[in-house]
Amino acid sequence: MAAAAAGAAGLAGAVAVPPYLTAPPTSAPPPAPPRGRFDGKVVLITGATSGIGEATARAFAAEGAKVGFCGRRAELGRRVERDLRDAGGTARYQQADVRDPDQLRRFVDDTAAAFGRLDVAFNNAGITRTAPLHEMTLEDWTDVQHTNARGVFLSIKYEVPHMLEHGGVIICTASESRRPGGAAYTSSKQAIKGIVETAAMDYGPKGIRINAICPGTTDTALVRPASLPDAVWEAFKRAWGPLNASGTHRMASKEEIARSVVSLASAEFSYMAGSAVLVGGGPLGGGPMAMPPGFPSR
Ligand SMILES: NC(=O)c1ccc[n+]([C@@H]2O[C@H](COP(=O)([O-])OP(=O)(O)OC[C@H]3O[C@@H](n4cnc5c(N)ncnc54)[C@H](OP(=O)(O)O)[C@@H]3O)[C@@H](O)[C@H]2O)c1
Repeated sequence: MAAAAAGAAGLAGAVAVPPYLTAPPTSAPPPAPPRGRFDGKVVLITGATSGIGEATARAFAAEGAKVGFCGRRAELGRRVERDLRDAGGTARYQQADVRDPDQLRRFVDDTAAAFGRLDVAFNNAGITRTAPLHEMTLEDWTDVQHTNARGVFLSIKYEVPHMLEHGGVIICTASESRRPGGAAYTSSKQAIKGIVETAAMDYGPKGIRINAICPGTTDTALVRPASLPDAVWEAFKRAWGPLNASGTHRMASKEEIARSVVSLASAEFSYMAGSAVLVGGGPLGGGPMAMPPGFPSR
């Protein structure tokens, strides 16, 4: 999709968009005012230097949580940390790469030590690489698996000891994406669902509730080409919505997905364990992303 959207940059304005695609999209309702649902709780997030993780850090902090988060890009991490503190929240950034077991273990242990406990973990760090399977390099395959699937395995492995005494909640970012060229990404995200299902049985009886969230396509750097001007990207999204998000006719915002994560972590979902919750804007099908008329496909 990224390549197609990038190619669309030169075409925007020249495209005759059919009337059924020009109906105003639904819009996300405004967020409910924070209710202090996580007052005094300690929340850890992997991959919160941008996108869904960053929005979720803000959402938890607004609900009163102390938020410890990681990511590789230190400058962005420090900026997010500063923003959260300026908004009155408690936040702590630590540079860590989830592919590196030592860095990840240190991040989890240091976060729990700095705030005195660990109540909620959102294992969200993820990347994608797309290529037909026979063209996928072993390096890219390994990078995706080690970030997405092994990263979640190691995160849970290091988080659980901090929760065994008093219980906790763990949410992992999976996906129902099934696209051509997506063998590495799809298999890594399906692996996360398997890890969550089995870990939920290991630790549910010990008071640790473990689930996965599967966001539908969400407006983040993962899907938006960096060089695309805002106006072109907005036009693309408007045309893309009715073709791909049958229940909402629009792409998700990172803030909406963040609010779903916060809700799933709250006591309102105390009976949910071992589930993979689709927050997808409609039923998701496999196959190629449907490209709006006039926009080039892959
Ligand atoms: N956007 C979508 O449509 C969509 C749909 C379904 C699922 N998801 C999943 O949602 C999660 C967040 O993605 P996003 O859409 O918000 O994209 P994003 O803005 O690119 O966020 C990805 C986050 O993961 C971090 N990350 C990547 N590799 C890492 C590593 N080795 N160690 C530590 N952190 C790492 C990145 O930080 P650094 O680069 O600073 O390390 C960044 O904070 C991913 O798991 C993605 O697969 C996204």
